[in-house]
Amino acid sequence: MAFLEIEGLSAYYGKARALHNVDIAVEKGEIVAVVGANGAGKSTLLDSIMGLTTIKGDIRLGGDSLAGLSSRAIVEQGVGYAPERFNLFPYMSVLDNLLVGAFTAREEADRNLQLVFDLFPRLAERRSQETYTQSGGERQMVSLGRALMTGPSLLLVDEPTIGLAPKVCLDIAESLRRLNGETGLTIVITEQNANFAMSLASHLHILETGELKMSGTAEELGSDEELNKAYFGH
Ligand SMILES: Nc1ncnc2c1ncn2[C@@H]1O[C@H](COP(=O)(O)OP(=O)(O)OP(=O)(O)O)[C@@H](O)[C@H]1O
Ligand SMILES: [Mg+2]
Repeated sequence: MAFLEIEGLSAYYGKARALHNVDIAVEKGEIVAVVGANGAGKSTLLDSIMGLTTIKGDIRLGGDSLAGLSSRAIVEQGVGYAPERFNLFPYMSVLDNLLVGAFTAREEADRNLQLVFDLFPRLAERRSQETYTQSGGERQMVSLGRALMTGPSLLLVDEPTIGLAPKVCLDIAESLRRLNGETGLTIVITEQNANFAMSLASHLHILETGELKMSGTAEELGSDEELNKAYFGH
């Protein structure tokens, strides 16, 4: 049994189907990437894990089904979410935005805050800054930090590199790698940037118009010629 099991997942917006029959398994302690172009269904997949869409199929965490649970209950089950559109409160400070993430894990707030500040010392230095004045990279750190304040055992990150400069992308990758290495946290990211995804993830899943086109290790996918042309620019 894998830690996260997505089985026969279809997701709908009204009558329109955004995901069709998706199967993904993620082992505990793994970093997995879901790669796809605009509109492929990446955000829909993560939203579905969070209970934010109408689905068919099943999603299990540690063997327990998340289907039908409220988003709050899913957070309490140990799923943290850093969504694509940051959804930070722009006129609140870094610290207050982080504390919003602690609403289901108040007892552990001090410990989790320390972990976030260790991971992103810049946020500790700038804890009083209102987030609308921050750079894109700093806001991404707050978004990741807020997800970590829920004390997750599974972290979902939607397009962590979107709109960020290459150097900042490397910093974000390093932070995710450190987090995974030091705490063993299981991480699922989505990406349009296949090379970034490959540098970070042990398994990749290619999503095209709501369906899984291919799944495998970085080496397996890297040796597929058609895929290379389409996603890796070689
Ligand atoms: N709230 C919604 N209502 C109706 N259709 C939606 C909604 N959200 C997404 N869709 C549709 O579902 C499909 C998948 O969208 P989704 O946002 O999951 O793609 P994505 O891979 O995250 O794209 P991007 O890289 O642009 O963020 C698209 O066709 C989109 O138009
Ligand atoms: Mg998206």
